[in-house]
Amino acid sequence: MLLRVISDVHSNLPALKAVLEDPPGAGADSTLCLGDVVGYGADPSKCISLVRKQCRLVVRGNHDAGAAGQVSLDRFNWEGATAIRWTRDVLSGEEIRWLSMLPHFHELQEFFLCHSYPADPESWTYVLRRNQALASIEARKGQVSLIGHTHLPGVWSEDGQYSEIDSGDLESVRLINVGSVGQPRDRDPRAAYLLIDTEKRTWEHRRVEYPIDEAAARIREESLPEVLWQRLYRGT
Ligand SMILES: [Fe+2]
Repeated sequence: MLLRVISDVHSNLPALKAVLEDPPGAGADSTLCLGDVVGYGADPSKCISLVRKQCRLVVRGNHDAGAAGQVSLDRFNWEGATAIRWTRDVLSGEEIRWLSMLPHFHELQEFFLCHSYPADPESWTYVLRRNQALASIEARKGQVSLIGHTHLPGVWSEDGQYSEIDSGDLESVRLINVGSVGQPRDRDPRAAYLLIDTEKRTWEHRRVEYPIDEAAARIREESLPEVLWQRLYRGT
């Protein structure tokens, strides 16, 4: 089975479309979404609609919870909170309800799916250090955890060693950050997603060019904070 795993779409419709049309992933048997469908970008409704159509499983991200009124906006920086307030205003009640019902995690075969921190999915902790990776691996023994949240694609082995290699065998990893579709932060502005082949037992981080100008123009049209479109070009 070919699994396509996306995360941190952040209301960036051109990036989401480009990822979904990327040829190797377009043949996937299932698409999974690790949360933060909304926030930062200017097309939350269209992204929610496409994710609902395309994804077999979706977990809740902190921006989804913020838009649903389930997380205090004090936990976001000014531009993030501004975008979340705007998102709440433009979404329908039904879309807000859908966001509010998303689970914190899912399990599929050997995979544990959550937005941020497999050791405590509701804490919104960022996995940035080895001790956080080890705690996540320890908490999900026998599973491979798939996460987003930092917008930095990478993998960790059983002993907590971090690597930014593009592809490898499933047996050698225990935790994978799939990167961000709509707001990459590893200085590569291309949209990111992950492919897993459960028969070949391999994984691959994919990068896809998309029309950044279109996403930036939409953010400007809605008068959202400037940094939200400027950073798309930098990949930061
Ligand atoms: Fe995010």
